[in-house]
Amino acid sequence: NNSTYILAIESSCDDTGVAILHNDKVLCNVVANQEIHSQYGGVVPELASRAHQQNIVPVVHQALKQANIDKTQLNAIAFTKGPGLMGSLLVGSSFAKSMSLALEIPLIGVNHMQAHILAHFINDKNQKKPPFPFLCLTISGGHTQIVKIKDHFTMEVIGETIDDAVGEAFDKSAKILGLPYPGGPLIDKYAQLGNPNAYSFTKPKTKNPLDFSFSGLKTAILYFIQKNIKENPHFVEENLNDICASIQYTITSILMEKLKKAVKQTQIKHIAIAGGVSANSEIRKVLKEAENKYGWTSYIPKFEYTMDNAAMIGIVGYYKFLDKQFDDLGITASARIKF
Ligand code: KG4
Ligand code: ZN
Repeated sequence: NNSTYILAIESSCDDTGVAILHNDKVLCNVVANQEIHSQYGGVVPELASRAHQQNIVPVVHQALKQANIDKTQLNAIAFTKGPGLMGSLLVGSSFAKSMSLALEIPLIGVNHMQAHILAHFINDKNQKKPPFPFLCLTISGGHTQIVKIKDHFTMEVIGETIDDAVGEAFDKSAKILGLPYPGGPLIDKYAQLGNPNAYSFTKPKTKNPLDFSFSGLKTAILYFIQKNIKENPHFVEENLNDICASIQYTITSILMEKLKKAVKQTQIKHIAIAGGVSANSEIRKVLKEAENKYGWTSYIPKFEYTMDNAAMIGIVGYYKFLDKQFDDLGITASARIKF
């Protein structure tokens, strides 16, 4: 029997996601966003877990309805076991365990970072699948890594941030500019109308050439804004597009410099991006251009698979199902797990 239906749950941060996959195809990918956090300028963990608690049952029902299947047809339940916010993970993992117990079907715990990467293997006419080995730049609100992927389950982090994640660099810069959370998409939007060379910010140095550091950039931006506001109180409003374009250009150049070093070191020229920040239009553009410029083959995920979603948890669930990598009900969620 090679027909497998998997229901997947993602609840690592502030989005409650439920997807249903038939083999490697996504039948539905429902995400309930939590609006509540924008007024606080960031995700409030306690509020996130409460919202997951409210969302989880309706979202599971909606997913089953959208996929037009009955729960008795499901072959396994996959869920995010970490990394993420503990209170949020507990809601998804407890619900997944209960479903697995009630339906008497296997339970599959999934690493959220592995899922961002394997989202590239979702069978979708708008996505091409990378061959092994390939490199993946995983960039989100919580992580910044260059990962070498040898097969579906063997991954090695060869570079990562020593302080802030790229998403944080975007969000914190946006906050300095007075923009609401999450500021990444807004910087992207304003940057499209601005001059990327209007202002320049120095790029950080790291001991391991493949590691990243973004906390210095945030401070540089803060001082730059404070200094200019002293001379002109309307500096930010008057130059918002140029400021955003310059910040985005600096971040994109840092990412590309590291990728070039990783390619040189590994001799791997199949390059994928993943995670919420891979939705960024400039990063997508520059990576696409690298095909002609450096002879790379770029793998850019479909927009809906960049942000946190359950379809990516489902595809890992599918590969683990084929490999019979099941978990027992004693599995616990964990805020910090490695590959
Ligand atoms: O992967 P994700 O949805 O959640 C985490 O696991 O963190 O990533 C969220 C991050 C936020 O920091 C958000 O500002 C950023 O992705 N982001 C963007 C864009 N869209 C989302 N950053 C820059 N440009 C974008 N277009
Ligand atoms: Zn994520």
